[in-house]
Amino acid sequence: MTDAVKISIKNLSLSFGETKVLKDVSIEIEPGEFFSFLGPSGSGKSTLLRAIAGFGPRPEGDILIGNEKIVKLPPWERNVGMVFQSYALWPHMTIRKNVAFGLEERRTPKRITNEQVDEVLEMVGLLEFAERRPSQLSGGQQQRVALARTIVMKPRVLLLDEPLSNLDTNLRVQMRREILELQRKLKLTTIFVTHDQEEANTISDRIAVLNHGIIQQIGSPLKLYDEPTNRFVANFLGSVNLIDGVINQEDNVFIFNSAQGISFSLAESNIKQGSCTAMFRPQNLKITQKKKKLDPTAIQLSGKIEHREFLGSRVRYLVKVGEHLLLVDDTHEANCTTFEIGATASLKLESDMIRILNN
Ligand SMILES: Nc1ncnc2c1ncn2[C@@H]1O[C@H](COP(=O)(O)OP(=O)(O)OP(=O)(O)O)[C@@H](O)[C@H]1O
Ligand SMILES: [Mg+2]
Repeated sequence: MTDAVKISIKNLSLSFGETKVLKDVSIEIEPGEFFSFLGPSGSGKSTLLRAIAGFGPRPEGDILIGNEKIVKLPPWERNVGMVFQSYALWPHMTIRKNVAFGLEERRTPKRITNEQVDEVLEMVGLLEFAERRPSQLSGGQQQRVALARTIVMKPRVLLLDEPLSNLDTNLRVQMRREILELQRKLKLTTIFVTHDQEEANTISDRIAVLNHGIIQQIGSPLKLYDEPTNRFVANFLGSVNLIDGVINQEDNVFIFNSAQGISFSLAESNIKQGSCTAMFRPQNLKITQKKKKLDPTAIQLSGKIEHREFLGSRVRYLVKVGEHLLLVDDTHEANCTTFEIGATASLKLESDMIRILNN
């Protein structure tokens, strides 16, 4: 096994004709890291991954694998392994042949090819299926063949473009664990592309969130969820309440006011005055029937329940406060009270749960 390498993407821009699809993208991926590109459809994730593999138009800027600049190299000289969404297996070849294909192209001696193919098929748990054809395997097994075919080439880095999107939910959950286990075993720097935030959160050391070809934020899943730097990231990484308003200072207290009837004071000293967005997650709002006596740091809001959804472990309410509709999550336990639609509810919010995003 070779040592894991870093991947550096420096000021990368890329256009298809007149359309700029990647805009000044810079990312440093650490050796052995499991890194994800997360963003909505059309945000440029695949284009960025393909640029690393050497497919598509030549970008401006630089890409380094280890210390080697690679943008001018053709794909076959980059020694990166890429797994595509459509597994692109050869239907007329056995699994063994599919996996051996790249090594045979490289004119690897037959004995070594056989050994290495056996080794990776064993690793992905498919040795007993080696003589079958792809159509005789399930979707998850075909996915493993695609992985085996890539890692048998001993690439320097592994690039995975939505490799699980053809699988049903349960299998996706199982396969993402398997991919992570394999990646840890091989100590391969890996980039995983997905538009599914849960998938990215569960599998990644760090994530780069992309929108319109621009990096919005880079960080660990927890960091992106708890400390998003803009509305897009706050929204993309889970349900959120985003309230536009203005902060004014009165004596030592900062007062937030929205135009539609939410106001509260904030104690933090590093808050800037002016227009901003107050952000808090649905689970930060505690719902009760009556106003309770509060500790002085808590904010109390009063509203009317407009909608209720039972989601298993929790109940989600839409509560109208002023002109705002707030998302409120209450944990669900058997026989606990749920609030009826139309009822008045009191919401408690600890002020240190509020994050201010400057617009
Ligand atoms: N060969 C091409 N020619 C012209 N435009 C392209 C080409 N490939 C991609 N694009 C455009 O580039 C943008 C980014 O596409 P890309 O495939 O990278 O998005 P993505 O984030 O991978 O989306 P998805 O989640 O749907 O796979 C899109 O607007 C797309 O239409
Ligand atoms: Mg894509």
